Amino acid sequence: MPSFQTTPGTRDILPPQAGRWREFTRIFASVVESAGFECLIPPMFEELGVFQRLGDATDVVTKEMYDFTDKGGRHIALRPEHTASVCRAYAQHRPTPPWKVWYSGSNFRYEKAQAGRYRQFDQVGIEALGADDPQLDVEVIALGWQFYQELGLRDVTLLINSLGDAGDRSRYVQALETYFRSRISELSEEAQQTLERNPLRVLDSKRPQDASVIADAPSISAFLSDDAATHFASVCAGLTALDVPFTVNERLVRGLDYYRRTTFEYIASSLDNAQNAVGGGGRYDGLVEDLGGPATPGIGFALGIDRTLMACDAEDVFACGSPEIDVFIVDTVDGTRATALAHALRQSGFSADRAYEGRSMKSQMKAADRSGAGIAVIIGGSEAEDGTCTVRNLSTSEQITIPVGELQQHLQSTIGPREPRRRSS
Ligand code: HAM
Repeated sequence: MPSFQTTPGTRDILPPQAGRWREFTRIFASVVESAGFECLIPPMFEELGVFQRLGDATDVVTKEMYDFTDKGGRHIALRPEHTASVCRAYAQHRPTPPWKVWYSGSNFRYEKAQAGRYRQFDQVGIEALGADDPQLDVEVIALGWQFYQELGLRDVTLLINSLGDAGDRSRYVQALETYFRSRISELSEEAQQTLERNPLRVLDSKRPQDASVIADAPSISAFLSDDAATHFASVCAGLTALDVPFTVNERLVRGLDYYRRTTFEYIASSLDNAQNAVGGGGRYDGLVEDLGGPATPGIGFALGIDRTLMACDAEDVFACGSPEIDVFIVDTVDGTRATALAHALRQSGFSADRAYEGRSMKSQMKAADRSGAGIAVIIGGSEAEDGTCTVRNLSTSEQITIPVGELQQHLQSTIGPREPRRRSS
């Protein structure tokens, strides 16, 4: 028989880690919903053309797309990110601006798999469409920052830059290309190849050989239009006013081509250099238009769940825990009383687990200890006969036998009140 394993770059997120992911998303939602962002769930695949707008010269489009022709002959791609889908949704549904949405979900990129870099990876993110206000940039960037603070992360640095408007950006790219060509022999082979595809991305090279050439490269600030420079100055002033610490990094270019004006990245210093960007984003004025919608400014970010949790582990914050169970029921008679009691307790709002297959008292008590429950409710032969149960505190080992009918009241007074679950009838 063949034995199957996950394919490279994919993983099972097992319990209790998967519970931690859910909690991560819950906290994220509460942070961004407090700022008026609403949840959006776009499809996981779209027509390839939606994602080609990320840039002909980007690795995401040229090398990493999971694309295929479906049975109806459509050229489809699994989403490599969410922003293009959100812009396509805006162009399709034309909501009233500003449209502020958040999302969470998987993305697919055929990357060289390694720790912190996967082929299926999850992000949470926000996008705000329809407002060109630098105060919106400040709000968006500060929300990402606030979320990291709420997780307890302290070793996160915020880098920001402006890539200017479309014209500024292309004049800068031209200047970069001329400069890098003048020193091409000093560049690494990889950087020379990148130069052919996308001169901007040469600035991203982390190879020591390229460092001195990059250090002398022209800076974007000299190419910014007055409007773009004023916008960027307002963003910096706004972040300063909110006490969000940041560093302007003129070499920050990001991996996708749609960025205009503000770009930013959150870097976790606790992680290895190659995978230390835990989140990033920026403005993408022009993307909605490229996808067939009206001219619409937009800004947002996406945070990598995998990498952010690696940073949490490195800083020993936002620990992984299993959900707590209130009560573990030990039924050594025939298991049916455990079924009835667990059902009744759950309806009353308690969480309850139990053992199966008529295990011995010893084995069921071991399972109770493993479950993390604070209390075991034990029903043996004598309890079954006189309609009682023994309630045992698993940390102190104190126990008391009470009528089953009084169990819920007893639990309410020992572990606290619970809200009954709603019944359908
Ligand atoms: P991105 O920089 O490609 O931007 O991805 C954002 C974050 O997703 C990264 O900082 C990283 O934490 C995580 N990430 C990216 N690729 C991988 C991977 N292969 N494995 C694990 N984690 C990964 C975007 O996706 C843009 N859509 C962000 C944005 C939103 N810009 C504007 N709005």
